[in-house]
Amino acid sequence: MSILPVILDTDPGVDDALAMMLALSSPELEVLGVSVVSGNVPLATGTENALKVLGLMGRTDIGVYVGADRPLVRDPVYAKEVHGNTGLGQARLADPGVAVAGDGVAFLVETLTDRPGEVMLIAVGPLTNLALAEQQSPGVLQKARQVVVMGGAIREPGNSTPAAEFNFYADPDAARCVIQSGAQVMLVPLDVTHQVILGREMLEKEVASQNTDRSRFLMDAVQDMLRFAEQTGGREGIYLHDPLAVGVAVAPELFEVETMRLDVETQGELTAGQVVADLREIREEIRQGRKVHCTIRVDCERFLGLFLGRVLGRGSLS
Ligand code: RIB
Ligand code: CA
Repeated sequence: MSILPVILDTDPGVDDALAMMLALSSPELEVLGVSVVSGNVPLATGTENALKVLGLMGRTDIGVYVGADRPLVRDPVYAKEVHGNTGLGQARLADPGVAVAGDGVAFLVETLTDRPGEVMLIAVGPLTNLALAEQQSPGVLQKARQVVVMGGAIREPGNSTPAAEFNFYADPDAARCVIQSGAQVMLVPLDVTHQVILGREMLEKEVASQNTDRSRFLMDAVQDMLRFAEQTGGREGIYLHDPLAVGVAVAPELFEVETMRLDVETQGELTAGQVVADLREIREEIRQGRKVHCTIRVDCERFLGLFLGRVLGRGSLS
């Protein structure tokens, strides 16, 4: 098995933390570093959380790189109602006492430039860091082996507004920059992340009963998300948005992919961050937008088995 070098660009965030845990528990991946961006919580909080999650996983050898503290153009928006004020729900992790390793945008530019075609970027927050890297070094995103992006909503409503998903809504200008960069983008939109729900019953049966540091963290971290889901959507469980982006890297066979032409709205009063896919029944060459690979379906049962098995340290259940 060849090991895939990856960089996680993230706004931790509960599901970001779960994505980090899945990546660090997957032998197929070598996590070169974690770059942090303002999103679910302010940059400083997200940076602290990234360091703490690496401490939980015993991987403080992996560098945390500090990226953008605000979107390219718009004012910052956060999602503390979903992730809690700390960004990790009700979980409390020890501070590993490790310093950050450097600047996030510089880390992206240097790593991609030094290792063209080798490194997979897995971006699970607003795309500000990736856009700044592209602005600093035009064409640098095309040097990534692939850019897996958790973001957007195509045939599915948004979750921040009726039209837009949070990561694209938080920084629509950055999202458009990445989509138009010519990089090999694999989109993981709400269309596929809304297919997988980790429910209370499975949490109680598969997680709470474990009574380990990881299982206790997971149970505490998801409490605010569970409450938010029940209060707003009547759902009895949480979405695993960001872990699914890691899933594309570790188990691509679980996903069905459709290639579309699309772009991102940046000006709309009601539609900023909306993904506009050209789904018209017309000839491919006259469709509008950039050609992007989009995951549209996932084998939910097998993904949940893989996720829980690896994150809880029991090896893949699938
Ligand atoms: O819309 C879901 C995305 O927004 C996830 O990445 C979540 O962590 C938030 O950043
Ligand atoms: Ca995120």
